[in-house]
Amino acid sequence: MKDEKIVLTGIKPTGTPHLGNYVGALKPLVEMAQTQKTFMFIADLHALNAMRDAAQIKQHTYEIAAILMALGLDMNNAVLFRQSDVPDVAMLSTLLTNVTPKGLMDRAHSYKAAKDKGLDVNMGLYTYPILMAADILLYGADEVPVGKDQKQHVEFARDIAGYFNNTYGNVLKLPEPVIGADAGIIPGLDGRKMSKSYDNIIPLMADEDELRKKIMRIITDSALPADAKFHQYSHIRPFQLYKHFGTADDIMNFHEKFIVGGTGYGDLKKELFEKINSVLSPVREKYNRLMNNREEIDVALSDGAIRARLVASETLSRVQTAMLG
Ligand code: TRP
Repeated sequence: MKDEKIVLTGIKPTGTPHLGNYVGALKPLVEMAQTQKTFMFIADLHALNAMRDAAQIKQHTYEIAAILMALGLDMNNAVLFRQSDVPDVAMLSTLLTNVTPKGLMDRAHSYKAAKDKGLDVNMGLYTYPILMAADILLYGADEVPVGKDQKQHVEFARDIAGYFNNTYGNVLKLPEPVIGADAGIIPGLDGRKMSKSYDNIIPLMADEDELRKKIMRIITDSALPADAKFHQYSHIRPFQLYKHFGTADDIMNFHEKFIVGGTGYGDLKKELFEKINSVLSPVREKYNRLMNNREEIDVALSDGAIRARLVASETLSRVQTAMLG
């Protein structure tokens, strides 16, 4: 029998998905949705505290949806939707503000980091964890797979559900954060962690030429072709990417070429490109087809929203009854 646990996660449409997102989040999510009932949404409301360009939010929303679909997301197990298509989340968020102590928000890492940097803090950023709690509690999630940086937010959702239940009875399910196996640092072009904020990303759906160019540009060091290339940490960068794309045998062979020496970085990077490209090119083909037929994405998202709303309205009405009679 299938495990009926409910898994839920949100992805913010704040940038073009890159190889690091794929390895760390998108690929494991699609794999998880093969066996688990999963709510997966594009958190466009959460993007608003930092993004002011509607066209960009929309573009990234399509990109993320198209990538998940192109990766073969199992639409039977997964309910894929756009957060703003289910307005119940805003109502639940408003209701939850009343059981959420201000001190909890003051302790949020994301808010504190913005404040410490002297950034302007809007209320969207400040109350971000309440909206996120509403996302999680609305769908009765048992497990919320997130990166380490989001663990505190999921714990807040659990706290908020606890405060609610203490006052109003056992209405909301308490979620657990699930921090996936650490994929390790996925190095960007400059060797630092691949991240939009470092401007060192390789877009996941870059076309073949761009992918090749970017990979050939990954910084290595001055080791000569003849040298063994594992004696300094910096030498393993192309390898760290490779290991997420090759089979066990591929990885062993590639590793061998590093430690034995005799292959220059140019050739190693060419091999890295070939491997990544062979994995991504069928995905890219489907992705491009979808991005050129956005109505197909619209249909999938609105179907997801209909399924999501069924669950959302049921939870919301329980909460509303508990609070307002
Ligand atoms: N805050 C998450 C992030 O920045 C995105 C998100 C929004 C989310 N709502 C969620 C993640 C609910 C998990 C569950 O990555």
